[in-house]
Amino acid sequence: MHGEGRNRKSRPSGDQCRNLSRLVAGYLVFALLTSSLFADSPRTDPPKPVEKSRRSYLGRVLAQPMSHLGASWLVRPERDDEENASESFVQLKLADGMTVCDLGCGNGYWTLPMARKVGKEGKVYAVDIQPEMLRKLQVRADKEKIKNIELVRGDIDDPRLPENQIDLLLMVDVYHEFSHPESMLWAIRRSLTENGVVALLEYREEDPEVPIKPLHKMSKNQIMKEYQKNGFKLVREYNQLPWQHLMFFARDDSPTDAIEPVPTQQVLEDLE
Ligand SMILES: C[S@@+](CC[C@H](N)C(=O)[O-])C[C@H]1O[C@@H](n2cnc3c(N)ncnc32)[C@H](O)[C@@H]1O
Repeated sequence: MHGEGRNRKSRPSGDQCRNLSRLVAGYLVFALLTSSLFADSPRTDPPKPVEKSRRSYLGRVLAQPMSHLGASWLVRPERDDEENASESFVQLKLADGMTVCDLGCGNGYWTLPMARKVGKEGKVYAVDIQPEMLRKLQVRADKEKIKNIELVRGDIDDPRLPENQIDLLLMVDVYHEFSHPESMLWAIRRSLTENGVVALLEYREEDPEVPIKPLHKMSKNQIMKEYQKNGFKLVREYNQLPWQHLMFFARDDSPTDAIEPVPTQQVLEDLE
């Protein structure tokens, strides 16, 4: 009897059982708390807007999309001198392997260099509502044997982009043409990764020297008003371009800090 008793494990007492279950419960609560603290913060997408075609938005009259019949103007040889597009391109800070989008790509003045810069491991979604523009872009890409471009025929209220994929989305001289700005911004926001940005180039409305029709220009204040209303924050800007504003917006729930825009008056004085 005695010998058997020595080999048998003693059964836990009621107190030990209670302590053990407290320990397990405590561990579970800790695990739950820490997992919610350290997991990626959840995306907070606002509801999809229901929007009809607009003539104006927040006090701005919207422009008509530029026809594909004028596409040759987009690839005019003097464009780089006039707009310093090469410097804007540097400011995009593209790198190998990035997934990017040229929204309102036209015949691809920006798409082709973007595709070269992100390389074989990267990808460019080139979106336009005019199939003629996409065909012209395809011809140019084929000539240069560029293969990492996916052409997307967008709708006027939907760029048809994948969710949570885009590291940088470029819009050059396009945004002011959107007839459904809220729907477009909603879809653009949804397409961005956590640290993804929109790079917006628009001709400066505040600058009478910029030789572009008024409806195709935008002021910094107006841009801020429209982007902040639709879930974006300004995270960077580049103010040394001859004709355009270049502003970078992230989702308002991105970890990147917001900045205040430099007033345009100061920008113009600095440029002189
Ligand atoms: C002035 S062009 C600029 C083209 C190009 N970004 C460039 O800088 O050479 C504007 C382009 O935006 C396109 N566009 C207008 N609204 C659009 C929309 N909702 N979705 C996609 N593209 C759009 C037009 O079809 C046109 O090709």
